[in-house]
Amino acid sequence: MKPVNIAIAGLGTVGAGTARVLARNRGEIARRAGREIAVTRALVRDLGRARDCDTKGVTLGDDPLALADDPRVDIIVELMGGESVARDLIMRAIANGKHVVTANKALIARHGNEIFAAARAAGVMVAFEAAVAGGISIIKTIREGLAGNRVLRVAGIINGTCNFILSGMAERNCSFDEMLAEAGQRGYAEADPSLDIDGVDAAHKIVILAAIAFGIPLRHDAVNCEGIRGMSALDMELAADLGFTIKHLGIAARSGDGITIRAHPALVPRRHLIANVAGVMNAILVNGDAVGDTVHYGAGAGAEPTASSVVADIVDVVRALTTDPDNRVPHLAFQPGALADLPVVAREEVETCYYLRLSAMDKPGVLADVTRILAERAISIEAVLQKGRAGDGEGDGGGGRVPVVLLTHRTREKNVDDALRSIAALDSVDDSPVRMRVEYLE
Ligand code: NAP
Ligand code: HSE
Repeated sequence: MKPVNIAIAGLGTVGAGTARVLARNRGEIARRAGREIAVTRALVRDLGRARDCDTKGVTLGDDPLALADDPRVDIIVELMGGESVARDLIMRAIANGKHVVTANKALIARHGNEIFAAARAAGVMVAFEAAVAGGISIIKTIREGLAGNRVLRVAGIINGTCNFILSGMAERNCSFDEMLAEAGQRGYAEADPSLDIDGVDAAHKIVILAAIAFGIPLRHDAVNCEGIRGMSALDMELAADLGFTIKHLGIAARSGDGITIRAHPALVPRRHLIANVAGVMNAILVNGDAVGDTVHYGAGAGAEPTASSVVADIVDVVRALTTDPDNRVPHLAFQPGALADLPVVAREEVETCYYLRLSAMDKPGVLADVTRILAERAISIEAVLQKGRAGDGEGDGGGGRVPVVLLTHRTREKNVDDALRSIAALDSVDDSPVRMRVEYLE
């Protein structure tokens, strides 16, 4: 049988990794797919740059639409990133009847509804396993392996760069900037690393997971997103003193009011499995009503772990080339006509526990003022920690202030917003208290 011809758009970290894996495991991949897979074209910006893969026999070009228009190409593998050129390339490829594999979570989260509608109309596949959690097959698992379940919650570490930075700060005593630079050198970070450290990349991924877990359209407009920029070593130490580790999490869960979709740093109990996931590794907990708790662990970024998912998608597409388009696995797990319009809970209405750190004057009455403000909003306190005393050299920022940490029981976020406004207005407290969620993940 004739080989399937693929074009790889982007020969950077993931693109070159994909080309290497396809070449190295060519025989085994062909035995699985039932056809040889040949890389015939590739797209780059800089035609003169050396590549981390063998490009012999591959026609290199720098015109995205020429790739999409080439009648000899069966599958476009989009590994360039970004939204506008990648979107144009994919929409043109779909219009030309080509199947698409992509690792581009920004594109899927923000434009997936439109892309999947176009793909359905054209009868082609768009596969995106590598868009979430690098080498972990989490999309296939939820979409196919857990298809019998009513999924209740998906939660975990879904950005390798954030986890690499937080682990390095906690375990190697490195600075945020050192760890971010190393994540870039290792190929973990996005071309624009603010997407990682501002939580945007994890937000894209949790939007995708929420859609396939709950059968809702991609709700990029509704995700609550915060990053780890400015994460202080002090908060990591104080969290450790209280028995927690700070992790960046993506969480999508059913709640009484609808669905919550959020990505933010959180304190996780040190004994929890998720707290012990280090470096670039990702781990995702999926809870289904039939299966109960499941855990999915593996490298969340990097060239070949991500290529592993890209190649698996290519094999899936090749196997399904001859199947009737109406009988393929739906892009978002549920049949397109059966997606539900469940409400997404607004940030202010989300209920969880909180870590609050204040820089407060070490004098009588300050804590009483703070606890009164919390009590007035029905926020109940689980623990209080004051680190050092003014003047004893520990925790004293020089102005007679000490860090005071409060852990709350569950409350609505709007209560915490309101309490923090009043606390920040106290003369005895600095005006920028730190707030992080505490997630027990039980
Ligand atoms: P990268 O190293 O920056 O590579 C991007 C590649 O695309 C480069 O070869 C670049 O060409 C090419 N490119 C970009 N814009 C182009 C344009 N307008 N025209 C032609 N070529 C263009 O990025 P990456 O880390 O491999 O990531 C690629 C995609 O995979 C992104 O969507 C990312 O979110 C996703 N992803 C990455 C990882 C990871 O661990 N890195 C994991 C999962 C998913 P030049 O080399 O000539 O500049
Ligand atoms: N920049 C992403 C991360 C790549 O660090 O998780 C994998 O999606």
